[in-house]
Amino acid sequence: MRILSGIQPTGTPHLGNYLGAIRNWVANQNEDSLYCVVDLHSLTGDIDPATLNANTRHLFAALLACGIDHDKCTLFIQSQVPWHSQLNWLLECVASYGELKRMTQFKEKADRQSGYRVGLLTYPVLMAADILLYQTTHVPVGDDQRQHLELARELAERFNNRYGQTFVVPEGMVPQFGGRVMDLQEPIRKMSKSVSSPQGSIDLFESESSIAKKIKRAVTDTDNEVKYDWESKRGLSNLLDIFGALTNRSPVEIAASYTRYGDLKADLTEALVETLTPIRLRYEDLLSDPAELARLATIGAGKAEPIAAETYRRASAAMGLLS
Ligand code: AMP
Ligand code: TRP
Repeated sequence: MRILSGIQPTGTPHLGNYLGAIRNWVANQNEDSLYCVVDLHSLTGDIDPATLNANTRHLFAALLACGIDHDKCTLFIQSQVPWHSQLNWLLECVASYGELKRMTQFKEKADRQSGYRVGLLTYPVLMAADILLYQTTHVPVGDDQRQHLELARELAERFNNRYGQTFVVPEGMVPQFGGRVMDLQEPIRKMSKSVSSPQGSIDLFESESSIAKKIKRAVTDTDNEVKYDWESKRGLSNLLDIFGALTNRSPVEIAASYTRYGDLKADLTEALVETLTPIRLRYEDLLSDPAELARLATIGAGKAEPIAAETYRRASAAMGLLS
């Protein structure tokens, strides 16, 4: 089993990133797991260079703080392994304009921006390159990445059929609960770095008092029956999903043990504080040593590079490029 996943350094990581992805990265880390901060993906939006630079270092530290152990797996920064961009080009020449234009995330983001960048359209091809470069068998991601993952599978198959067996066709790993954490204020949309209001999202380094305030104000409903039901009680079901993911219990079972929203919210706050406080403390500690973070990133890139180089070499030869 070879695992790879990535996260963008676009803003501060939030609870959705943690429950949908990072937690499962930690649970599945072993010598065959690779995790990367996908800084090239963040260039698809208009991000200030100094901000991107700082975000990348901070996110690298945040992943370590969440429990990624660079001795157990490979943790690296995407742009420090040049083969990602190289394979991206080969795959852009396999992907079709039509299939990229149909991607839901592209349509949503393109709708919000005038004069969006070409990279926004080709973004899922770069993601496919990230995955296919490492002969990945499993990709732990949140629910919102299913369509992109399907494209990676499609491109792998198309390439293999046209140019000969080169890539492993990867499978997604989406958690049963926590794979789609919704905005606390508007539970019809997912918690997001770019779109959520500050009240709607909980970031990984949130203080205890701020977590308590946000959970207290999280939108529920007025009928006061604690029940797990995504049809009629989205806000409450979202809280139950978060609670379930944090404590490895089923949201239905949790709902059965409460009669009042207030009690549920108080216990959920406690569970969140218990999980997030150690992460925040380790994060602050790690940030105090930037040279060590840079050293670990170099080690990670050094471990990833030979695997990526070998796959790129095979793919480029299969397409007829001279070595
Ligand atoms: P991104 O922040 O878009 O780079 O996403 C990094 C990882 O977090 C991906 O695996 C996403 O699927 C996951 N993710 C992002 N937002 C959420 C959310 N609201 N709920 C669950 N998983 C999420
Ligand atoms: N597109 C993913 C997201 O926004 C991030 C990503 C880039 C990724 N490359 C990847 C995820 C490779 C899994 C595997 O969440």
